[in-house]
Amino acid sequence: MGSRARLVSLLFAFLLARVAEAGPPAAAAGSRYLTKDERWMSQRLDHFSPTDVFYSSAVAHAGGHGSQDHRRFKQRYFEFLDYHRAPGGPIFLRICGESACGGIPNDYLAVLAKKFGAAVVTPEHRYYGKSSPFKRLTTENLRFLSSKQALFDLAVFREYYQESLNARYNRTGFDNPWFVIGVSYSGALSAWFRLKFPHLTCGSLASSGVVRAVYNYTDFDRQVGESAGPDCKAALQETTRLVEQQLLSDSRSVKTLFGAQTLKNDDFLYLLADAAAEAFQYGHPDAVCTPLVNAKKNGKNLVETFAQIVKVFYVKEMETPVSSYDQEYLKKTTPDDSSSRLWWFQVCSEVAYFQVAPKTDSVRSARINTKYHLDLCRNVFGEGVYPDVSMTNLYYGGTRIAVPSYLMKCSNCGHGTDLRGCPQSPFRIQGDSSNCSSPAAVNTVRQQIAKYIDLWLSQCQKPSASGYGSHSPLPGNF
Ligand SMILES: *[C@@H]1O[C@H](CO)[C@@H](O)[C@H](O)[C@H]1NC(C)=O
Ligand SMILES: *[C@@H]1O[C@H](CO)[C@@H](O)[C@H](O)[C@H]1NC(C)=O
Ligand SMILES: *[C@@H]1O[C@H](CO)[C@@H](O)[C@H](O)[C@H]1NC(C)=O
Repeated sequence: MGSRARLVSLLFAFLLARVAEAGPPAAAAGSRYLTKDERWMSQRLDHFSPTDVFYSSAVAHAGGHGSQDHRRFKQRYFEFLDYHRAPGGPIFLRICGESACGGIPNDYLAVLAKKFGAAVVTPEHRYYGKSSPFKRLTTENLRFLSSKQALFDLAVFREYYQESLNARYNRTGFDNPWFVIGVSYSGALSAWFRLKFPHLTCGSLASSGVVRAVYNYTDFDRQVGESAGPDCKAALQETTRLVEQQLLSDSRSVKTLFGAQTLKNDDFLYLLADAAAEAFQYGHPDAVCTPLVNAKKNGKNLVETFAQIVKVFYVKEMETPVSSYDQEYLKKTTPDDSSSRLWWFQVCSEVAYFQVAPKTDSVRSARINTKYHLDLCRNVFGEGVYPDVSMTNLYYGGTRIAVPSYLMKCSNCGHGTDLRGCPQSPFRIQGDSSNCSSPAAVNTVRQQIAKYIDLWLSQCQKPSASGYGSHSPLPGNF
């Protein structure tokens, strides 16, 4: 949806641990989720001015967590303990990113959890889903939405959950070995968490982690062209040109053809760019290229062919609402689905990843340029909301993070394939890799992941009086 950041590379920011000799009970085998049982914790609204308790207007609606401190909100989370080798087994903190978090998905992480005897816990990202501090998502109320606040939430959650687990086992001061794991933006959070809170984790897996903020992200469109291959790329480019022409002569009928008559022209062009891009990103090159290349070969109408792809594949099957491209919808402060507005705020205030057309040979319309994105930010959030990517990269270090990294290559591999398998819809139970064009490419990287978890666990669980170390010293190479 929207302009989610994407990289088709794998990045680990792991670091430590020791093996659990697995062998736990069987669990929810064929289900999409390991669990959907909601739990709640009280979270601080602003981690960076904890003394500012006199904040008054537009107060958080959390309630029920003490009377005078209004600056808290309820954060939703999930826990899955069936595989946990209690009481000392590892805890996998699966980070939920820029959407509502309805549970813990039964993807490849479940296989790893079983293998290592790990518990899996997943807090929802602040503001998304049911974890919003505010009912009205005005720009003013969004000022506590940032990756920095979200990372601090994770640290607080980690301590809270460790304590609640200790209470369950009648013990104090015990520390299980923790791993953080995420995909895409939450992959970046995973790497950054390890970087900022090394004493709280043994390691981190950043799957397709977008750790470097990019202002003009022209490589994104270039990758779409490369993944498409010459024939399909040419057909996509011709389609873009034809749509642009028709927008000049009769915009209403071409937008109606795509079921997108509510969109302004440029937002419509962005929808079309994203529809193609996301097909590649999530492992469905054939859904776009087969019909389009055939249409070109057989002299059929390219625009009509692409309209079918957008309506049937992108909107219906990939469940992408056209309204998520509509700036009038993005401006709504109490929308039914808030995730697009919220992610755009993060894009416009922190990470950019503006998916602009490259100067030459672009697949998307050249109208999707830097100005389009800046205008959107201004129109939706008002003056002054601007992504200072150099500050973001100064703060996190961009790609200057010491990590082992691995790339998997296959024609329907894509974003987060190591955890999700491919293609990514319909959902692959346990991240099944058998339908990847090269399961071996995926499985090889998965073996590396398991190897590093194993290694870092062995380094993390330094034996101590209680059998497990508390906070281990950092290995020197990170
Ligand atoms: C913890 O202590 C309580 C009260 O003494 C006891 O009922 C419970 O069984 C204990 N739980 C564990 C896991 O030992
Ligand atoms: C981004 O692209 C715009 C338009 O081409 C250009 O003016 C601007 O300098 C670029 N900014 C960066 C940081 O590359
Ligand atoms: C997976 O691959 C098999 C064999 O090629 C095929 O029959 C099946 O339809 C595919 N399943 C999905 C969900 O793509």
